[in-house]
Amino acid sequence: MTKEKLSYGKYLQLENILDAQAPKSKESGNLVHDEMLFIIIHQTYELWFKQIQHELNSVIRMFKGNYVQEENIGTVVARLDRIIEIQKLLIDQVGILETMTPMDFLEFRDLLNPASGFQSVQFREIENKLGMMSSKRIKFGKQQYDKFLVGDDRNKALKSEKEISLFELLEKWLERTPFLQFEGFNFWNSYQLAVEEMISKDIDRISENKNLDESAKEASLQNYESIKKTYDALFNEKKYNKLLTEGHRRLSQKATLGSLFILLYRDEPILQLPHQLLTQLVDIDHNLTSWRYRHSQLVFRMIGVKIGTGGSAGHGYLKKTAEKHSIFRDISNLSTYIIPRSSLPELPEELKKELGFYYTHGK
Ligand code: HEM
Repeated sequence: MTKEKLSYGKYLQLENILDAQAPKSKESGNLVHDEMLFIIIHQTYELWFKQIQHELNSVIRMFKGNYVQEENIGTVVARLDRIIEIQKLLIDQVGILETMTPMDFLEFRDLLNPASGFQSVQFREIENKLGMMSSKRIKFGKQQYDKFLVGDDRNKALKSEKEISLFELLEKWLERTPFLQFEGFNFWNSYQLAVEEMISKDIDRISENKNLDESAKEASLQNYESIKKTYDALFNEKKYNKLLTEGHRRLSQKATLGSLFILLYRDEPILQLPHQLLTQLVDIDHNLTSWRYRHSQLVFRMIGVKIGTGGSAGHGYLKKTAEKHSIFRDISNLSTYIIPRSSLPELPEELKKELGFYYTHGK
């Protein structure tokens, strides 16, 4: 028997994909034109979610184990970059759906009940694999999200909650940052002095600012008091652990110091890729938040403050998730402790050499 030649359509299984749009309005005998767009937008989101998971799973695999192969970091960075580009597209894609008017949406909205994007299991898997903590999730109608998932979808989401996340793996990797201690080099002491100087300069600037009224001054100064407190805790294990148990911090003290070192000495050759990686994780987190805002605006535009098809006070719930559902906040927050390059403690010559391209892991 001769083998059938491969064709474009067969390879991509277009028969299956292009036959997978079944508007509910057509079923009910009155096809609404815009329902096709609604279906295709959601399907393309799910395809991109699949690709994001494909990249994320491979990054997680590379991070597992007792140390990350240095040569893998470049691949990790390339794959995270791909995720970021896809996310940008996903944010932009909302605009296509916004060409549908709220009235057009109302033509078929009731036919979708009780299905909702809230039940996207891939979306939950991505959140969980990145490191979303279930205890920190905003409840939906007083319940956890998984209660709204059915059958295999629920199992998949719960499985992804139990598996080790990128956040946890990153934390372990950062805790192993070499060079935090280097033969008599007291980097942290010099660094503390530089930060104290920076904070006290800022405080002087606030006190002397004639454009601020008394209450604005007081609020700013209070903010600096809390910055000082968390900064003190950076170097004090007991105080830092208190921040962790009270939920003000999630990343361990050791990992925090590791990432701070990477951020501060990002120009050293060996730290350039790790720095890029940390920046990417912050980007991924911010893009997720941007998508949440964009989606919540879309929802407000389409249904106002009506309840969603999943039954929540849609817009209100979604706005809260945009504010609270952040995963790598502790990394973004490190900008508070960044000091100008000119104030950075000088690294000893020997250490600078190690941070050049001479270093190989385990030497
Ligand atoms: C007319 C367009 C849309 C409307 C009116 C809408 C409405 C809503 C509402 C009200 C919720 C809250 C849950 C509920 O009550 O159902 C929700 C959640 C959600 N929607 Fe949409 N949505 C739209 C388009 C989309 C699109 C295109 C996606 C892409 C996959 C999407 C994905 C999601 C996700 C993932 C959630 C859960 C978010 C979370 O829990 O943080 N939605 N949507």
